[in-house]
Amino acid sequence: MDVVVSACLLGEACRYDGGSKPNEAVRQLASRVRVHPVCPETAGGLPVPRPPAEQVGDRVQLRDGTDVTAAFARGAQACALAARNCGASLAVLKARSPSCGVGFVYDGTYSGKLTRGNGVYAQLLEGEGICMVTEEVVESCKPSVEHPVAIVLGTGLGHLSSLVHPVRRIDYHDIDGFPADARPISGHRFEATVGTVDDVPVVVYPGRIHLYQGYSAAEVTALVRHAHRLGCRDIVFACATGAIPGNAHTGLGILTDHLNLTGVNPLVGDASQRGLETPFVDMCDAYSPYLRTIARGVADDLGIAVEEGVYAGVVGPSFETPAEVRMLASLGVSYVGMSTVLEVIAAKALGMNVLGLTLAANYSGDGSVTHQSVLEEAQRNADSFERLVRGILHLL
Ligand code: HPA
Repeated sequence: MDVVVSACLLGEACRYDGGSKPNEAVRQLASRVRVHPVCPETAGGLPVPRPPAEQVGDRVQLRDGTDVTAAFARGAQACALAARNCGASLAVLKARSPSCGVGFVYDGTYSGKLTRGNGVYAQLLEGEGICMVTEEVVESCKPSVEHPVAIVLGTGLGHLSSLVHPVRRIDYHDIDGFPADARPISGHRFEATVGTVDDVPVVVYPGRIHLYQGYSAAEVTALVRHAHRLGCRDIVFACATGAIPGNAHTGLGILTDHLNLTGVNPLVGDASQRGLETPFVDMCDAYSPYLRTIARGVADDLGIAVEEGVYAGVVGPSFETPAEVRMLASLGVSYVGMSTVLEVIAAKALGMNVLGLTLAANYSGDGSVTHQSVLEEAQRNADSFERLVRGILHLL
């Protein structure tokens, strides 16, 4: 995948003070993708060193009062062209900078205070379909022994757990809040494995419990809270689904958002008991745009066919009626399944970075789906799914 990166994050001494801001997580990502370093400020002809610049209203000024709006615009345009020409899907941009800042920039008082907004370059990239993140996002997604990647595997996808070099196994029944009577429906043991996949620290949960088995929202999200307590910051949910005809095909998919149609929510009740300060959790970008972009880039590079779409979580266990399928189609749903939404809500509430992957095993409502056919379809796609997950772990 092609990634645009602020050159200062790679160690180039192009900052106003003549220095750089090398970031190890960004450098490591850059070493594993096709990287395109940019510095919109030097590209605009500004000298190094120079006084610091900030956006002041719709102008950009150096601290000595020099107006550098035109140089910033020129540099931003040149670097936006470079991003377009290389087909970058991701830009890792220096946080808070007047050209590269994403979400927050210095507020024009030269006092270190921040205001909401994008730098001049980030404003230009907006709307180009390029996912923009700061180095802080890359860092926050970086796995380590202290922060392993949690992977929760759904129906038929539990095989991935055999890739783990195990360090420790944890019986689900020893996990706080996990129901003592729960048994796997088929296949894998209810045992999490802490270890590594290709040297990346992970905790793999090779199966889950569901609302349709009669468990509560709190019980089905116990694994998420466990992963968080173990230090996981990234959590990958993999689930089998039905594809909604007209909106998705069968095969692998990346979840972009969801509709919680289960009628319950794991945040109902005593938030403090669940380790939360507040139950009022923002659900925008619940499925991390950064992780989605990495997943898409890996799939494209490896030639793995992957679609993207909205997931509708239903209770089940009956499959959808034709009328329900028509309703879901008209609501913009691509995938329908009986898990994941509650877990994603719980993970987002805990501040985790969520990636949702699905295997659409059948067309929802096609009249032929059985639990066995879902397992068989998962088996047919196991190799692609495994290559996709390993590719993603490699880039984190
Ligand atoms: N509907 C709901 N869940 C599913 C389906 C489906 O068609 N296939 C696999 N999980």
